[in-house]
Amino acid sequence: MNMKPKNTVMQANPKAGYLAHKAEIDAAIKNVLESGYYILGQEVEAFEREFATFIGVDHGIGVANGTDALEVALRVCGVGAGDVVITVSHTAVATVAAIELVGAMPLLVDVDSVSYTMDVDCLEEAILQVQQNPSMGQLKAIIPVHLYGHPANMPAIMELAERHGLSVIEDCAQAHGAKLNNRKIGTWGHLAAFSLYPTKNLGALGDAGIVVTNDARLAEEASIYRQYGWRQRFISDVPGMNSRLDPIQAAILRVKLRYLDQDNAYRQHVAAKYNSSFQELPLQLPQLKGDVNHVYHQYVVRSCDERDRLKEFLTAQGIGTSIQYPVPVHLQPAYHSRVPLGLRRLPVTEQLCQEILSMPIHPHLSEEEVERTTSAMVTWYQQAGTNLPQIA
Ligand SMILES: Cc1ncc(COP(=O)(O)O)c(C=O)c1O
Repeated sequence: MNMKPKNTVMQANPKAGYLAHKAEIDAAIKNVLESGYYILGQEVEAFEREFATFIGVDHGIGVANGTDALEVALRVCGVGAGDVVITVSHTAVATVAAIELVGAMPLLVDVDSVSYTMDVDCLEEAILQVQQNPSMGQLKAIIPVHLYGHPANMPAIMELAERHGLSVIEDCAQAHGAKLNNRKIGTWGHLAAFSLYPTKNLGALGDAGIVVTNDARLAEEASIYRQYGWRQRFISDVPGMNSRLDPIQAAILRVKLRYLDQDNAYRQHVAAKYNSSFQELPLQLPQLKGDVNHVYHQYVVRSCDERDRLKEFLTAQGIGTSIQYPVPVHLQPAYHSRVPLGLRRLPVTEQLCQEILSMPIHPHLSEEEVERTTSAMVTWYQQAGTNLPQIA
């Protein structure tokens, strides 16, 4: 019988994040419960201010989840039916779903093989592709995704966007606190969307999300749009939606935000340990491209051919791993053969999905758990011998 060891090393562990700050979080929740204000209000406003300050922008608009944050951002950029938005396929399906939610068409491009974020050459080609095929629709926006905690190449993306008059919405769901050229992600685009899903670097204890921007007009439109298009209660100026950040989640997030820098530093410490323990193994380790501060939402290795057997072995050793994502969006049943792709197709994305494995990483992973993980990895490669194919 394949017995799992009792103490599995969790790949992510939001419960540990709660228990680490239980007294503060419980008090924050109690405070909201006793306040009598259960929709938006002071707690949400305080979180919006504190998070915007943390990122270094003027405005934050709390919403119900990260998908809604993308949708609201797209809406206020005027993206709708008949428009095209360029993004990547190597992302959470939510990035693409949000584009379709506003009625626009996603055009998916490949990622580069070092940062796993949007390949800027592919982006440039895709812009031309739409311009040369007006029947595709009007190109309005780009959504770069800072995947796994590694920033996308924002200077190049912003330069292309400016040249072609496009809006840029950063998908920051996996990169709270990451920096590029010493500037936080979320400050580069016209707007940025953050998921605050429990496993994220800053995670609520339920669903939550936030849109940030330096543009006062876009911020106002976003805050109106998230609540029925109300500028004034009960009067809809524009058609809107209901996507409000829950004040209980806002109160929890205010506590957790105080620990985000410390948590990200611990993720980087774990990543450094993995880097040194895995350096002799036939794996492609995470790489840094440019002057980046990677916040390791995921620590993703690439194991050529052996990924599934390695995952199985680690599971049997009580080491939790995960695959983000096993099937790229454009090959999933809902999108396959329907959503258009960049002209080069997506060879890097498709190869990555065969090889990637996310190792355990979170702020409450103990040194002993890191040790167990690295020794299980070394054991696997010792047992598998030296004839495993190398990543090119
Ligand atoms: C890159 C990316 N974009 C968007 C989302 C959507 O966030 P949510 O699940 O909060 O709607 C996620 C979360 O899974 C994500 O990882």
